[in-house]
Amino acid sequence: MGKTPHLVVFTGSGISAESGIKTFRASDGLWDEHPVEDVATPGAWRRDPERVLDFYNARREQIRRAKPNAAHKALAGLEKAGFQVSVITQNIDDLHERAGSRQVLHLHGEILKARSSVDIRMQYRLAKGGIELGDLCDKGSQLRPDVVWFGESVPLFADACDLVGEADFLLVVGTSLAVMPAASLLNHVAYDTPCVVIDPNATELSPASVLAINDTAGKGVPALVKHWKQQGALLLP
Ligand code: APR
Repeated sequence: MGKTPHLVVFTGSGISAESGIKTFRASDGLWDEHPVEDVATPGAWRRDPERVLDFYNARREQIRRAKPNAAHKALAGLEKAGFQVSVITQNIDDLHERAGSRQVLHLHGEILKARSSVDIRMQYRLAKGGIELGDLCDKGSQLRPDVVWFGESVPLFADACDLVGEADFLLVVGTSLAVMPAASLLNHVAYDTPCVVIDPNATELSPASVLAINDTAGKGVPALVKHWKQQGALLLP
């Protein structure tokens, strides 16, 4: 028997939009209400750590209340049906995991973890509550959210490139592909690997896209997953 074909799914905030979590670059998006330079850069953290913590504490509570939607569930269901599925997400929420996906790489970190501000390896799961000024790591430095801010390196980028390079099929869902280096991941897909983009604003010009499906994640992903389950293979629709 040959090896099970490997589906790699690259997701952005659009996949969580139907769970009630705002995307970033829409006209009423998160970065419109909260300027990046005030809440999501190392400079913001130096200038006003309390504001940064407040922003992520509020987002964390919102994410805890949110539930996985039909798109997260369909991807988890595909894995359960025996397909090999790896998810690379730019999202800091845990909706893929709560839907049941077991292979999830968080390129931009996880809001449900805190980490030391002096040692990136010192991470702590936040089972409840948030991070307050004065909460310290075991080395005595202030805890911060375990998220990647603008201007910081992306520690899991090389791992994500390797995964994309191994993909037999690449599915991209709900991302504007506006942020580097995340967007450049698509340059690591093999030239003959089929690629589908599901996004209401997808275009045939989306980098590396073979097929752009202009649909929401909640409709487009379950439909594609149903097709794959019926075919018993990762075929283009
Ligand atoms: N289903 C699918 N896609 C959707 C939906 C939906 N229901 N609603 C919106 N979208 C799409 C939009 O068309 C857009 O292409 O989601 C995308 C959201 O794009 P951005 O707001 O730019 O978010 P994203 O691509 O996830 O941003 C990447 O930017 O600021 C950083 O770290 C942050 O991880 C984030 C990164």
